[in-house]
Amino acid sequence: MTIILVTGGNRGIGNAIVQAVGTRVRDVTILVGCRSLERAEELKGLGVPAKLEPLEITITDDASIRAAVQIVETKYGKLDVLINNAGSVSLPKSDDLTELRENWAQGFDCLVTSQVLVTKAFLPLLRKAEWGRVIMISSARGSLSRNKSIEMPPTQHWVYNCSKAALNLVTIEFRNAEFREVANEMDRITFWAASPGHCKTAFNNFRGFKDPLEGAEVTARLLESRRFEIPSGTFWEFEQGNFQQVPW
Ligand SMILES: NC(=O)c1ccc[n+]([C@@H]2O[C@H](COP(=O)([O-])OP(=O)(O)OC[C@H]3O[C@@H](n4cnc5c(N)ncnc54)[C@H](OP(=O)(O)O)[C@@H]3O)[C@@H](O)[C@H]2O)c1
Repeated sequence: MTIILVTGGNRGIGNAIVQAVGTRVRDVTILVGCRSLERAEELKGLGVPAKLEPLEITITDDASIRAAVQIVETKYGKLDVLINNAGSVSLPKSDDLTELRENWAQGFDCLVTSQVLVTKAFLPLLRKAEWGRVIMISSARGSLSRNKSIEMPPTQHWVYNCSKAALNLVTIEFRNAEFREVANEMDRITFWAASPGHCKTAFNNFRGFKDPLEGAEVTARLLESRRFEIPSGTFWEFEQGNFQQVPW
């Protein structure tokens, strides 16, 4: 049985990932990460073939991360796939320096630091899986190449773009550490970054143009791939019917 944890799985893209992966990937138990178990209520109606288990995890709270690792260790003894999806950031309300500092600190804490900490905390359990995989839910907004060539529409959300660019580098750093520290390639954990695209979720007041299930497609494709088919340390999206790499 493949054990998959999706952080922030109770709504938005995370919930769509639970639906897509829970329908398409066989023999899985999906641990649906939620800040509190009451937020997992809607899971009962999803009707996917996979076994769904709510798991309390607030990614910005170290005690909560530790408790979640303990539960997964006790119940399953391993984690096959970690999907770092949870995240939120708000636009600063003014250019007041104190407010801006707080806004940048909050954004980076949630979208970068917490993703690193959650991943590090689960590494020992990912190592116990036959093929440990980590998917960082990033954004094409974090692609330096796309931003440099002005392909992206303008945005006020600098904290968001910069944090996703940092998360992309985090993905590469984790991949590099595996290559340096783990001699046997069959023992290495795979790290991917994925861009769901502009989806209709609370995150953007439902202004995105894609259904969250379309946003989940890239993650489902990565999890349907065979080992070594998609190299570790790469960045993917599913846009206009194409599953393709995003340039860093
Ligand atoms: N929507 C887009 O267009 C888009 C595009 C590219 C990338 N993304 C990325 O996709 C991911 C999901 O975004 P979304 O659009 O689905 O947003 P969303 O609908 O606002 O959902 C965010 C999810 O993250 C959870 N969450 C937030 N802060 C958390 C914390 N500190 N600890 C644990 N869980 C936390 C929320 O839990 P609660 O229910 O408890 O609040 C919720 O489950 C994010 O990483 C986002 O950057 C989104």
